Amino acid sequence: MPTATTDTTLKSLLIDELRDIYHAERQLVRALPKLAKAATSPDLREALESHLAETEQQVSRVEQAFELLNESAKTKTCAGMMGIVEEGSELIKESDKGAALDAGIIAGAQRAEHYEMAAYGSLMAWARALGHDDVAELLSESLEEEKAADKKLTELAEAGLNDAAASASESDDDAEEVGDEDEDEDKPRSKRQAPMAAGGNGNGRGKASRTRGGRR
Ligand SMILES: [Fe+2]
Repeated sequence: MPTATTDTTLKSLLIDELRDIYHAERQLVRALPKLAKAATSPDLREALESHLAETEQQVSRVEQAFELLNESAKTKTCAGMMGIVEEGSELIKESDKGAALDAGIIAGAQRAEHYEMAAYGSLMAWARALGHDDVAELLSESLEEEKAADKKLTELAEAGLNDAAASASESDDDAEEVGDEDEDEDKPRSKRQAPMAAGGNGNGRGKASRTRGGRR
């Protein structure tokens, strides 16, 4: 049985972590539309948009949890999620649209999901230990949503990887034909792959590659 002292400590840990996830979820409400906008695959865009709707619900569940604990809903800077969101923004800035960027967006979104899953798992355990089954139940709904979103992203990644791999091999063929491989070496990896994955970067190479593909 926890003593009064450990109860107090665990309670403050619970509140602290709730404030952290509150900030994390609110950051995602702002970040998910940007990821959806940068996605090429309509399925990925739809998955990100539907998770945005869930994330808004998750924000309100955290607010309900504060209420059940008689605490005011406050955020505490979640540096972990800030880093994940920042990496996603950089990727989008550095890459052209296409299958490769989609793969990167999925990887970033899954990092966010796993971060949240870890947080909700701990929160639920602490809430239960403190006798707040109502809070644990509430947060378990969010945890299940995060797990389902993560699973969906894995499915989309597996489907999308075939497209990205096909585009990358087209890109390699093309690089040999036009002899500009060395020039490409200086560019960031994402910049090198994403344009061809998108089927062209405005200079017609992607289109030419597809046309010449017929003689293989
Ligand atoms: Fe979430």
